[in-house]
Amino acid sequence: MTDPVAGAAAAAADGRAPGFSPEQREAVYRVIAERRDVRRGFLADPVPADVLGRVLTAAHQAPSVGFSQPWDFIVITDRARRERIAALARRRRDVFAAELPAARARAFDQLKIESILDTPVNIVVSCDRTRGGRHTLGRHTQPRTADFSSVLAVANLWLAARAEGLGVGWVSFFDERELAAELRLPAHLEVIAYLCVGYVTEFAPEPELATAGWARRRPLSWAVHAEEFGHRGLPGEEPVDPLAEVIAAIGPADAGAMAAAAERQDRMTKPRGSLGMLEEVSVRLAGLAGSCPPPLPEPACVAVFAADHGVHAQGVSPWPQEVTAQMVANFLAGGAVVNSFAAQAGAEVTVVDVGVAAELEPVPGLLPRKIAPGTADFTQGPAMTRDQALTALTTGVEIARDLVAAGNRCLVTGDMGIANTTASAALICAFTGADPVEATGRGTGIDAATYAKKIDVICRGLARHQPDPADPVGIIASFGGFEHGALAGFILGAAALRVPVILDGVIAGAAALAAVALAPDAIAACFAGHQSAEPGHAVTLSYLGLHPLIDLGLRLGEGTGAVLALPLVQSAARALRDVATFDSAGVADKQ
Ligand SMILES: Cc1cc2nc3c(=O)[nH]c(=O)nc-3n(C[C@H](O)[C@H](O)[C@H](O)COP(=O)(O)O)c2cc1C
Repeated sequence: MTDPVAGAAAAAADGRAPGFSPEQREAVYRVIAERRDVRRGFLADPVPADVLGRVLTAAHQAPSVGFSQPWDFIVITDRARRERIAALARRRRDVFAAELPAARARAFDQLKIESILDTPVNIVVSCDRTRGGRHTLGRHTQPRTADFSSVLAVANLWLAARAEGLGVGWVSFFDERELAAELRLPAHLEVIAYLCVGYVTEFAPEPELATAGWARRRPLSWAVHAEEFGHRGLPGEEPVDPLAEVIAAIGPADAGAMAAAAERQDRMTKPRGSLGMLEEVSVRLAGLAGSCPPPLPEPACVAVFAADHGVHAQGVSPWPQEVTAQMVANFLAGGAVVNSFAAQAGAEVTVVDVGVAAELEPVPGLLPRKIAPGTADFTQGPAMTRDQALTALTTGVEIARDLVAAGNRCLVTGDMGIANTTASAALICAFTGADPVEATGRGTGIDAATYAKKIDVICRGLARHQPDPADPVGIIASFGGFEHGALAGFILGAAALRVPVILDGVIAGAAALAAVALAPDAIAACFAGHQSAEPGHAVTLSYLGLHPLIDLGLRLGEGTGAVLALPLVQSAARALRDVATFDSAGVADKQ
């Protein structure tokens, strides 16, 4: 007997009703794949009324909540009106540009974000959230579905336009009410989309933002989950755990690219070896990227992972636990040292709440990923469950992936968590076998009695948990903060994508030990930003075989030391790329 599902699928696949013929299906998928947001290369030719009519008919056939059809289409051709609207968009563009970190601002300057005057027709798609009355089916539970419906009209319009050879560019650089006033929209209507429409000679194969390096396309496998969020897997394939996936993806540095970089360093117009450690940095960057020269590690983003620690109850820090949440607010307001250093270096600061023991208000720049409101006291039991340790690791992987997909080419670690030097020292002892006396420091500054207590707390923790270096997840669960687990995942995520990650001090170092225990080749992605004053950090760097780029006696955390090293890593890559060679510059080499 034939399988009815396979039978139906087969009938649809070869074009028997109700599926399309293979050629028709090909055309549908083609228009979806080849639709582009277009901003360049518009022709001045007018769009005939019948073509515009077909495109608007397609838009009007969109699905809508409760069949409410909440859209209206305002077709604009008047030049003077478009000039006024273009001026509104220019003002918003300038405001946005002024807020960007330097590397992003430079990249943004090259982007075209609207074609209001370059296109013969502009179309506004609006939404009437009241249309259909009170009992609109579906909208009564989800008011936002009215907006979604208008967006679907935009999608239909965009696809039909592509099939007609018309480019469409969506502009959202508007204050919505300012634009609504220019269009004389009644107060109950919202602007959903402002579209610039015109003929073009060609459509780019990829989004311009991808070609320009502003953002990258996320693989489909990151977006598809089987049954429950987090069970990633494409249909017909085994579910993939992102952590297992990144560990499997991490490979060694590319020896060929490293050799090419070392060889180029020797031909650059400077005495051999005269760039000292920066030569090694450039060679490692080439090895990581698998190319010589490697891409410039910019733009860069500092991710400050914040969490609280149960071991704080043991009196290991003079600071109250509330300071973690207060400093998170300070990072988000731009008032911390890491913000000023990042502004100077042209990097973005993102704060990730993985376990702050307080409710944090949603604000731009904060990624809410709380696993629990702080860990448990590791002198009394494990700091977290094994599941929580795995969640922390996976969270870090996801953050790294998202920041790289957003266009960052260098990740920088940051951390905040009162008492996290205690957890770090315990992790360092567990991974390296170091003596707690050797690995424990004075953190934010503690007196002799507190210092002795801190060492005792770490000794008690180690005695209680008997860490097994062959079980990195178990070690994170025993002692870690959620920020340590997430930072370890962040490092693994960067390594899998072959993007450099600049490590800050002792907290990042402890996390790097966990990352390298899980995937030894992850070390290829790690650059030690600085040498922290915390003694456990020296132990960690020598265990990892990393050389710190700067040594300024810093012991602040937040990512400060790593951000200060960012221009050094960037300069190392730029020199390898830009400096002339003896042969190219016609400079005589030493005999
Ligand atoms: C809701 C929305 C708003 C957008 N706003 C703008 C915009 O203001 N300026 C711009 O240049 N592109 C804008 N775009 C276009 C996106 O940048 C573009 O869709 C994305 O980079 C993917 O490229 P593609 O559409 O060519 O596949 C917008 C797209 C959407 C869906």
